[in-house]
Amino acid sequence: MKMFIWLRSLPWALAAIAIASALAAAGPDPIKVGVIVPMSGPFASIGGEITAGIKTYIKQHGDTVAGRKIEIIVKDTTGPSPEIAKRLAQDLVVRDKVEFLAGFGLTPEALAVAPVATEAKTPMVIMNAATSIITTKSPYIARLSFTLPQVAGPMATWAAKNGVRQVYTLVSDYGPGVDAETEFKRTFTAAGGKIAGSIRVPLQNPDFSPYVQRIKDANPQAVFVFVPAGQQGTAFMKAFAERGVAQAGVKVIATGDLTEDHQLDAIGDAALGIITTHHYSAAHDSPENKAFLAAFREANGDAMRANFMAVGGYDGMAAIYEVVRKLNGKIDADRAMEVLKGLKLASPRGALVVDPETRDPIQTVYVRRVERVDGHLYNVEFDKFANVKDPGK
Ligand code: PHB
Repeated sequence: MKMFIWLRSLPWALAAIAIASALAAAGPDPIKVGVIVPMSGPFASIGGEITAGIKTYIKQHGDTVAGRKIEIIVKDTTGPSPEIAKRLAQDLVVRDKVEFLAGFGLTPEALAVAPVATEAKTPMVIMNAATSIITTKSPYIARLSFTLPQVAGPMATWAAKNGVRQVYTLVSDYGPGVDAETEFKRTFTAAGGKIAGSIRVPLQNPDFSPYVQRIKDANPQAVFVFVPAGQQGTAFMKAFAERGVAQAGVKVIATGDLTEDHQLDAIGDAALGIITTHHYSAAHDSPENKAFLAAFREANGDAMRANFMAVGGYDGMAAIYEVVRKLNGKIDADRAMEVLKGLKLASPRGALVVDPETRDPIQTVYVRRVERVDGHLYNVEFDKFANVKDPGK
């Protein structure tokens, strides 16, 4: 009888052993990274670039760190959509049990998710969103991109030093635009410059024509511009050309969001000569950038040109890999933040260090001029400001 029971349970025992060994062969669970970005809607190019940068990093460095596979879960906010971003973050944390939240192309979405990171104790890696205040909203946020004050201040300093006396400002009417306007005005007027006027345009579908006409009528020496990366740069420059403002002698100066690499060829010749300040240009001459651009093409094909958001995605992944490596695959949020504070990267943009105090990058801000190189338009670096911290806090 005993023998009979033993024989009957034998297949089950064998099956259990087979399952256990299959699990052992598969290794520990993957580390899930929840990436929250707009992949559709008016800012789809932001999500497209960030995820292309993530893909590039994984292609170049493999998908396993400290014995744990890295699994990327991309969620589309269709944004700007803070409510959707928050709900997606809650789902990722509760249901998918992600160990990192990442992405964040748009400031309102990053701000909406900050309390989720705090409550769930999940490290949140910002790959673009650039309003200064974001990192103050949760101790679990680290930013691998830039801030608007960090690049707008150097633009004002450069302009004041190079004979620009009077500037009109035009920015998108939300966090990064307000930050850019505030820091530009502060630095420019402190250096003796005058502000001829200021316009804030809606974030959603702005019609630039009437604003551009107002600037033409005011006839300033230059206009300082921040619009979010993507199609708005092309739309602004189209209105600027159609209204004949360049011919009237008004120069464009901007943060590099206006002339970002993916849009530049779409803007076309109207962009030639525009001077901008930013942390990344595809024309940056370094071995790290050459390797990045080659890997980007290999991972994503030729249709998309890598821009600063792709680099934000790439460097954000580098930061996540470093945390996983240093913590030997066992992620604890507080220990993760200790790794992120002071983290140094040899980025395609140049060296960067995450400020241990603010969790924002300290980096070089380059002054660039749009030129044609080998048949394409590029932001060619010709001056720089070293070790720039976010001046916004
Ligand atoms: C942002 O929403 O923080 C943002 C979006 C696009 C940019 C820069 C900042 O080019």
